[in-house]
Amino acid sequence: MTFAELWQELAPIGRDPGTGGYRRYSWTPADAQGRAWFTRHAEALGLSVEPDRNGNLWAWWGETRTGAIATGSHLDSVPDGGGYDGALGVASALAAVKMLKDKGFYPERAVVLALFTEEEGARFRVPCLGSRLMTGAVDPDTARSLAGDDGVTLAEAMTAAGADPVRLGPDDDLLGRLAAFVELHVEQGRALAPLDAVIGVAEGIWPHGRWRFDFGGRADHAGTARFADRNDPMLPYASTVLAARQVAAANGALATFGKVIAEPGGANGVSSSVRAWLDCRAPGGESLDQAFTAIHSAAADAAAAHGVTLTVSKESYTPLVRFDETLRDRITGVLAAAGTDAPVLPTGAGHDAGILAARIPTAMLFVRNPTGVSHSPAEEAHLADCEAGVRALALVLEDLAR
Ligand code: GLV
Ligand code: MN
Ligand code: MN
Repeated sequence: MTFAELWQELAPIGRDPGTGGYRRYSWTPADAQGRAWFTRHAEALGLSVEPDRNGNLWAWWGETRTGAIATGSHLDSVPDGGGYDGALGVASALAAVKMLKDKGFYPERAVVLALFTEEEGARFRVPCLGSRLMTGAVDPDTARSLAGDDGVTLAEAMTAAGADPVRLGPDDDLLGRLAAFVELHVEQGRALAPLDAVIGVAEGIWPHGRWRFDFGGRADHAGTARFADRNDPMLPYASTVLAARQVAAANGALATFGKVIAEPGGANGVSSSVRAWLDCRAPGGESLDQAFTAIHSAAADAAAAHGVTLTVSKESYTPLVRFDETLRDRITGVLAAAGTDAPVLPTGAGHDAGILAARIPTAMLFVRNPTGVSHSPAEEAHLADCEAGVRALALVLEDLAR
């Protein structure tokens, strides 16, 4: 199948007809359809598909199972995510193998296509959960008990989907069989378009943390409770949102409250609690720590001023990632030799490649996003650019696996 045909088949899976955004959450029926799509096409290419102990899928091409060159990405999405984030890397991996097979290439080293689970952390709150479990960056017992908004734990969701949560944990055997991982991803941001470049290569990933802020107050009547008598958690929450923006802007960081739950949720009542999630990223670990500390302290001051309690818990933290320079230079060299000038770009977006980078040489290819919008139904990439991405990935795999 060509990239366009693969893409057309994948497009409806998990797409909400109302918003046009994707709601492809881990271990749901949409996720199962995505896994089935991947397995079907990998097997049609003659690859052998195996789940690992952490719920990721691996499709192997080639006799040997050591020194393998891995590529792939994820199919899970943020709420109402775009079609390309993750999915582009998976479809491109399948299409690149097809392209290499069609030209008669047979890999000396195995090539293996990875489908990672729960990259976004949209259901169980820890991003890159599949790769974190694999590398030992998250404790398996903690992971098993992570629960989403519906109260269902990862262990329960995996079991309901027919997967076994008992074996979750570090997978040194699998990691030891991989020589390198190259993840192709849609660009998230708009750096390539002004450079008139179609393909970019990643330099590194900003450090990134997610924290949950729980503001606790007292429910009351919106029409009768005097302001002076209220303990309204919405007010310190609102101050914290504004403070986060100011702190981040002043420190060259990014801070976002993208999710908030007010309880009990009556339009005519003061809330009893506001639970909100801060996503904060910065160019370095120190600037991230400074930004978070300042936001936390603004939240604590605002909570105290309104007689509201505050509890802050860290849900995930990913340190600065620098991708392997030797691998990056080799990739830019291979692309340059084929006439593609691929700029090297930093990014603030998290990826499984960033987690695997702690253990094996890792690199990323970015495909131009004309608007730069991502984590949104408005995310875009032109078909011709996606096809150029497939060709670039095929060149890289051919070079690394020969
Ligand atoms: C994942 O896309 C992230 O950067 O949060
Ligand atoms: Mn994403
Ligand atoms: Mn992604």
